[in-house]
This record gives sequence, structure tokens and C-alpha cells, in this order.
Amino acid sequence: MDDKAMEIEAYIAKQQGIIESALRKYVTDKSKKPRILHEAIDYSLFSGGKRLRPILCLAGAHTVCMATDCALPMACAVECIHTYSLIHDDLPSMDNDDFRRGKPSLHKIYGEAMAILTGDALLALAFEIASLCSPLGSSYPLSTMIWELARAAGSRALVAGQVADLESEGKEIGLTQLRYIHCRKTAALITVALRLGAMSANADEKTLRLITKYGRSLGLAFQIIDDILDVTQTTEILGKSAGKDQKAKKATYPRIMGLEYSKKAAAYYTQKSLYYASALGENGKLLSELANYLLARKR
Ligand code: IPE
Ligand code: IPE
Ligand code: MG
Ligand code: MG
Ligand code: MG
Repeated sequence: MDDKAMEIEAYIAKQQGIIESALRKYVTDKSKKPRILHEAIDYSLFSGGKRLRPILCLAGAHTVCMATDCALPMACAVECIHTYSLIHDDLPSMDNDDFRRGKPSLHKIYGEAMAILTGDALLALAFEIASLCSPLGSSYPLSTMIWELARAAGSRALVAGQVADLESEGKEIGLTQLRYIHCRKTAALITVALRLGAMSANADEKTLRLITKYGRSLGLAFQIIDDILDVTQTTEILGKSAGKDQKAKKATYPRIMGLEYSKKAAAYYTQKSLYYASALGENGKLLSELANYLLARKR
């Protein structure tokens, strides 16, 4: 491994620790009533997620200033929304996945009803935490930031993507529809994570615009790579069931475009995100390193 790869891995590990402690602070102790619910929240939230969205949120702030603590509440809020979306995504009525983050999916341990309720609680918790954010400057009122978070999680973005994903199962869909799904189910939350980080740090308009474009491309690359890994990786390394997309005839890049084309598409969207990061100059270096790291990821 070269020095650069080691540096970014050490950076990521450090950020994961910071996010882990911040989340702990916001989450209700599992000894509190209803105990089963707080245990289930703990089980899904503290179980080996890569924390990429909160890391990107902090990186969005880092692009603007050195003090990234201002973005911690938004980073944790985004991770709560992401975790809720995974719990619901795994339900038998959706992707019917038994394995997540290296352990049995939440509904396998706590049952479907409790998995639905845990998702509900995490979605509410996200907005509770977001409301605690105190942005560094005055360019972006907190109400605007919370509005953005709600939009990214809602019926025109993440949930729209999940609806289209389910409706496309087993169907012949084209690249336009596939991109519609990926933009919404994945890129929307990744983009808003970066934006909210930058907004917490009072980014100027130009920086915010470039970060947004970076996020959209990175988000597309991220989901294409997720689709590729389902085909090329093992369940042990992924920490979730490999080969599930093919079995369920999911609308994925490899199914529609083939594996080789998919790899090229992942590299293309990563390249595009690198272009926007480089337009940020010296301040965009961290975003560039994260994009390269994500392209090479194995899980
Ligand atoms: C999985 O996201 C769901 C997608 C949108 C592809 P991650 O791969 O970031 O999952 P965790 O958080 O590390 O478990
Ligand atoms: C999940 O996409 C996207 C959301 C949960 C919003 P996938 O269904 O591809 O994610 P994995 O592969 O189960 O993690
Ligand atoms: Mg899914
Ligand atoms: Mg899934
Ligand atoms: Mg997937």
C-alpha cells in the first residue's frame, strides 16, 4: 500500500472514531424504556457501518475550514437516516436481506415490526439531532438546512429511488431509469451530507456549488460500485449478502450494462467528481483522496 492510501485510511479510521463518539452522545442509552427499541437502535447503529456519509459531511466542512466540529450534528443526522433506510431496505417486503454490516439484519433478530419501528425512531432522531446544529456563519439558516435534509430523505429523493428500485425488479429498464434510481436512492443523501457539512461551516456560493457537483458524481459512482461489488465480492468481505441483486433481478449497472461497462462507468463518475474537487484547489484535496479511496473500495 502506498503512503497516500495509508494516510487516507488512517484519516478515515480517525473520523469513524469521532463520529462513533458523537453518535453515542445523541442516542438514548439502551437501558432506557422501551428497552427493546433502544437495544435495536444500538444494534443497527453501532455495528460496523463504514460511516461514509458522515465522513463526507465532515469533509464538506473541512473544505471550508479546519474546525469541522460544527458539522458533527448534521453528520450524525445523515448517518441515522442512512441506517434507517438500510433497516427498511432489508425487510422481507423490500430486498429481503438476512445479513447487514456483518451481522444478521435487524428484522432477523428483533422481528419485522420492531425493525419498522426502529427505522421510524431513527428517522425522527435524525431531525432531533439536526436541530442541534449551530452553523458557523449566518449564510444558511438552520431551517433551510433541515429543509434540505428532509427533501433528500423524502418522496422526491431517497424514498422515490427506493420506490423505483422496487418497481424495476425483474423488468427491462434502460440507463435513464437506472440513473433516475441511483440519483435518488443513493446520490441524494451523499450530496446533502456534503452540502450540510459545507453549509455548517458557512461555505461561499462557489464552493457549495462545486461540492454539490462533486457529491452528485460521487454518489452515482458509489452506487455503481455497490452494484459491482454485489457481483464480484464475497458475503464475508461485504458484510451483506453477495449475489442478491442478480437473484432478485434488481435493476443494477452490471445487469443492464455488463460488468466491464459498469467498471468504466464507476471510473468515469469518479473522474468527474475529481474534476470538481480539483476546481476547489488546495481545499479540494481531501475530497479527491476520498473519491479515489471509494473507487478502490472492496466493501
Ligand atoms: C449501502 O451503503 C447502501 C447503499 C446506498 C449502496 P454503505 O455501503 O455505505 O453501507 P454501510 O453504512 O457501510 O453499512
Ligand atoms: C440501498 O440500495 C439504498 C437505500 C437503502 C436507500 P441497495 O439495496 O443496493 O443497498 P444494499 O446493497 O442492500 O446495501
Ligand atoms: Mg435496495
Ligand atoms: Mg438492499
Ligand atoms: Mg446494493
